[in-house]
Amino acid sequence: MAESMKGLHRSHRCTEVSNSEIGQQVTVMGWVQKRRNLGSLIFIDLRDRSGLLQIVFDEPKVGKEGFAKAEALRSEFVIAVTGTVEKRTAAVNENLKTGDIEVIAEDIRILSESETPPFPIEENSQTKEDMRLRYRFLDLRRPDVQRNLMMKSKVSMLLRNFMEQEGFLEIETPILTKSTPEGARDYLVPSRVHPGTFYALPQSPQLFKQLLMCSGYDRYFQIARCFRDEDLRADRQPEFTQADMELSFVDVDDVIDVNERLLQYVFREAIGVDIELPIPRMTWQEAMDRYGSDKPDTRFGMELVNVSQVVKECGFGVFTGALENGGSVRGINAKGQGAMPRKKIDKLVEFAKGYGAKGLAYLAVNEDGTYKSSFAKFMTEEELKSLVEHMQGEPGDLLLFAADENKIVWDVLGALRLELAKELGLLDKNKYQFLWVTEFPLLEWSKEENRFMAMHHPFTMPMEEDWDKIDSDPGAVRAKAYDIVLNGTELGGGSVRIHQDDIQEKMLEVLGFTKERAYEQFGFLLNAFKYGVPPHAGLAYGVDRMVMLMMQCDSIRDVIAFPKVKDASCLLTEAPGTVDEKQLEELALSVQQIEEVQEEA
Ligand code: AMO
Ligand code: AMP
Repeated sequence: MAESMKGLHRSHRCTEVSNSEIGQQVTVMGWVQKRRNLGSLIFIDLRDRSGLLQIVFDEPKVGKEGFAKAEALRSEFVIAVTGTVEKRTAAVNENLKTGDIEVIAEDIRILSESETPPFPIEENSQTKEDMRLRYRFLDLRRPDVQRNLMMKSKVSMLLRNFMEQEGFLEIETPILTKSTPEGARDYLVPSRVHPGTFYALPQSPQLFKQLLMCSGYDRYFQIARCFRDEDLRADRQPEFTQADMELSFVDVDDVIDVNERLLQYVFREAIGVDIELPIPRMTWQEAMDRYGSDKPDTRFGMELVNVSQVVKECGFGVFTGALENGGSVRGINAKGQGAMPRKKIDKLVEFAKGYGAKGLAYLAVNEDGTYKSSFAKFMTEEELKSLVEHMQGEPGDLLLFAADENKIVWDVLGALRLELAKELGLLDKNKYQFLWVTEFPLLEWSKEENRFMAMHHPFTMPMEEDWDKIDSDPGAVRAKAYDIVLNGTELGGGSVRIHQDDIQEKMLEVLGFTKERAYEQFGFLLNAFKYGVPPHAGLAYGVDRMVMLMMQCDSIRDVIAFPKVKDASCLLTEAPGTVDEKQLEELALSVQQIEEVQEEA
């Protein structure tokens, strides 16, 4: 039976009890991790969020009734123990913060009992994630998850501290709002008062933070929940947290300066990593050319080499064909991998095809200087020699080539480079390599939509020197946009914003908005721009991603208390769920039969 807390006060968390309390009486409370009976003594490992503490029950000290309670304890019972701290006489546990002390119990209360949990509460759990997420309230008791969430709390505090010191104001923006075009699908909430209309949950506070600049708040920040209905990945959740900021009267360098100091402060205070400033910068073009990615992992080399010029007149039709179609031929040099078995190379070819490649041409430089290659027979000795030289190929190297339109070549080799690095163990988890990627293209051609889309969002300022190309060659216009990349993950991104209504209207026109539709959707912003708007710029970090990288987790789910799984459902609450007919009626909604929806799809 559960006993009450009456008259009891917790004096310490488990690992707050230390050598300096020896001889003192303490009261600790927590969960039973483990019980061992050793003849006349019972040992308990007591656990709370701080860690473990050993409790010893000895009948003469705790009394007959107390000892009987101790005998009844099982894993995950919640208890309160009052007793005296003593130095351990035997079995000092060096792995434990409290490993050289123990509490000799004088009183015990069982505050609640527990059924046998469906999996053990332990570090590095072997239990399948689905099971753990179904019982997330138990999973969250595990020390590794607790450390992650404690770190997240710490990072939020550090971010707030820094922003406050730098004169930023924390201002909340609405969750029930209108669509903000960040490129994903919106989550919609039906309105009861205005039947047939919907709020959208914010994909980011973008428009509101720009309005706040119009309203003179000059430095805004918010730890903001954002919602995006997009396919989930290891580093993506449908709802996630941004550390979001906006500044007035600034340009690119000002934003970068504040954020470099922010990163330096937060990473030092949170995990003791010293970031050397300034953080290197690379243009988008250079990132694509050298790494095939706009978020390059610069912890290792294996850079892409453009060999289009070298092979443009060779006899290999795959290469020349790609060039004739306006594409390129590029390669990477997997150093020392020349002896890779054919089967493994075939796997790489399949991997490349997964990224849209039609194939992957390879050439291994044998130790004796001859080649083993899928295309050597189409080339002269001279051509091969020049190609190998260009790739800085040496005996024992494996050269891999993709020939196609640029975007595919970049995607394929960028992904292949990472895959090889993973396989070859080139990714040092203890290295924190930051990089600014700048000068992104303003627009991106969408094949599906057959029109240009904003690469960042429609409010991003074009670079002044490119603006004259907006009609003649829109794809060539670069933006004042920047991303901060850490070890190949996009940690944050932002831009200088358009603050002139004519440029903003033009931008929306290029994106295919009629003036009417633009005003219908963003009229409030366009109007605000008519009443005195300061030049402004900003940036937002993915806080979950930041903590994931700090804690070296493989998944963003490990740093979110109640995450969703791949199909965007919550295994714990079983959201999303159906609702009562009455609720639907109030919202003037009716739901199509699932079969009908599937038939139409
Ligand atoms: P962006 O869309 O680049 O910019 O988002 C900023 C950062 O948020 C994180 N992020 C995510 N994290 C987890 N799950 C997701 N689904 C997800 N989507 C994004 C990333 C990303 O770098 N309004 C602009 C910012 C600005 O211009 O100031 C914006 O939202 O780490
Ligand atoms: P094939 O002549 O199609 O048998 O191709 C010869 C070699 O070129 C094979 O190793 C293919 O994998 C490779 N290959 C085919 N298409 C491409 C491409 N677009 N880029 C690079 N290699 C390719």
